Amino acid sequence: MTARAHVPTELERLGDLPLADADALAGRFPLTRNENPAPEAEYQRIMGELAFGREFTDHMAHMRWTREGGWSQREVVAFGPLSLTPGAAVLHYSQSVFEGIKAYRHADGSVWTFRPGYNAARINHSARRMALPQIDPEDFVASLVDYVRADEKWVPGGDGTSLYLRPFMFASEEFVGVHPAGVVDYYVIGSPSGRYFSAGLTGVSIWVVKGHHRAGPGGTGSAKTGGNYAASLLPQAQAADRGFSQVCFLDSYEEKYLEELGGMNVFLVMADGTVRTPELSGVILEGGTRSAILRMLADRGRGVVEEPIALDEVVWGIRSGEVAEVFACGTAAVVTPITRLAGDDFDVELEVGATTTQIYEELTDIQMGRAADPYGWTYRLV
Ligand SMILES: Cc1ncc(COP(=O)(O)O)c(C=O)c1O
Repeated sequence: MTARAHVPTELERLGDLPLADADALAGRFPLTRNENPAPEAEYQRIMGELAFGREFTDHMAHMRWTREGGWSQREVVAFGPLSLTPGAAVLHYSQSVFEGIKAYRHADGSVWTFRPGYNAARINHSARRMALPQIDPEDFVASLVDYVRADEKWVPGGDGTSLYLRPFMFASEEFVGVHPAGVVDYYVIGSPSGRYFSAGLTGVSIWVVKGHHRAGPGGTGSAKTGGNYAASLLPQAQAADRGFSQVCFLDSYEEKYLEELGGMNVFLVMADGTVRTPELSGVILEGGTRSAILRMLADRGRGVVEEPIALDEVVWGIRSGEVAEVFACGTAAVVTPITRLAGDDFDVELEVGATTTQIYEELTDIQMGRAADPYGWTYRLV
């Protein structure tokens, strides 16, 4: 297997296509205001705590797809319980996909998101694999615009904070029988959030799992679909019992090569400065953060390589000093240093390194509007 330099992927190509401005898209999902928004004291408590993914805002965006009529019924309505028949196909066959993307408040009060076209392309990639309908990328972005405009007050300000946006789509047709649903609902909900790991840029400990895999060749690993996460929960709980905060999965053939964490991609920084990450094998999720980091490093003249990375080589490299830093990345936690890596027969430790810290700062500076965005990745919502 030979190493290769990064070539733009389908998601990166689609994700970089120009999008209409938010003002031009706004209004596609008309707002019916929530008559019973969170009381002021409740709102203040939630915005004070900023617990990731625990509390949601006053509204949600929605649209429905039918096989006969396509997408319709676009709306922003009060956040609240869904009415779902027990026969809804998603409850039986898990036909569902989701996305994770954030709204950031810049110092001047404006609200922005990061590469929404990429997430639009990825939800369509995931939807294709799960036999769900495609969404017009501008409808996807418009759903974020109208939802965030309705709930703008829920976008916190301050370093490391955001309104975490969760677009998702599921099979709501009532039937028991294995075939693609003819009725599908799409929603966007959001949760005001502080840092994902409350400890900030201090490191996390990772248990490398053998015997359990989140996905396999030809399966659904490259789709953001609930089953992959359900498959990760048992090994994750077992690792937590051992005192580890996350798990890293290995390839399902040989249990030899690193794949990714339960919800993040993984990178190595070598002592010679080269940065390496597992190649896109069709089994791992193609992270937008991974993509942004590869691009930023390449533009700074750093050697970046996507290739199979053997666990033995990583453990040996950490012991010998050849591997200087290991970090994980994803929208929720941005960049997270890994300071302990352990498995059945090894346990090694690392420092939080300069490259990890620098990537975290450069990426969050672009996202928060503190640095120029040469890539056109930031998109103004409000
Ligand atoms: C399994 C998995 N890998 C990687 C990532 C990172 O993707 P992104 O950087 O687009 O958030 C995520 C998070 O969405 C994930 O769930």
